[in-house]
Amino acid sequence: MAESFPTNFLDAQRFTAASSYFQQGLAVLSSLGARIPSGRNYVGQPLDPGPDGEAFACRWAPEGTTAPHDHGGGEGLVLVQEGLLIETKFEFDGSELVPVERRMLLPGDITWLGGRDIHTVEAHEPSWSLHFYWGKGDTYRIFDPVGRVTHEVRDTGAWLPVDPDSIVASTPWS
Ligand SMILES: [Fe+2]
Repeated sequence: MAESFPTNFLDAQRFTAASSYFQQGLAVLSSLGARIPSGRNYVGQPLDPGPDGEAFACRWAPEGTTAPHDHGGGEGLVLVQEGLLIETKFEFDGSELVPVERRMLLPGDITWLGGRDIHTVEAHEPSWSLHFYWGKGDTYRIFDPVGRVTHEVRDTGAWLPVDPDSIVASTPWS
């Protein structure tokens, strides 16, 4: 694991649960194969849900990039298993989305998300990662810097929503 892993972020119980999910995730990663739907940046395979968490394994298309998004107020961590991911974190003041941190994630590296952290993830080669989240709300935010609008969505991916039924609210930037 990355030396910078924030051991104070997770209590021992959650870390143990995450480790268990990651072991489970390793077993399903290979089953994801190349089944990335056309036009999608990644495909996620949910793992057995925990009592207070959500976990899935993710296979990334080469050059796949998410839209800027948060995780609904929950906490989470992402472990890169294979490939190369670039994560950019942003701050949003209601009118501009400003990049504040950019990290290269190699196999074994972990990134963590807290509160309403906003990020994008880019794959620069075929990549696999494992994701674990706690305390996610029913909705989360997708940011559209081109349309200058923030969508509050549910039950879609980390891309601009295409199904109007997934959009709970859309707020233009000031
Ligand atoms: Fe994310």
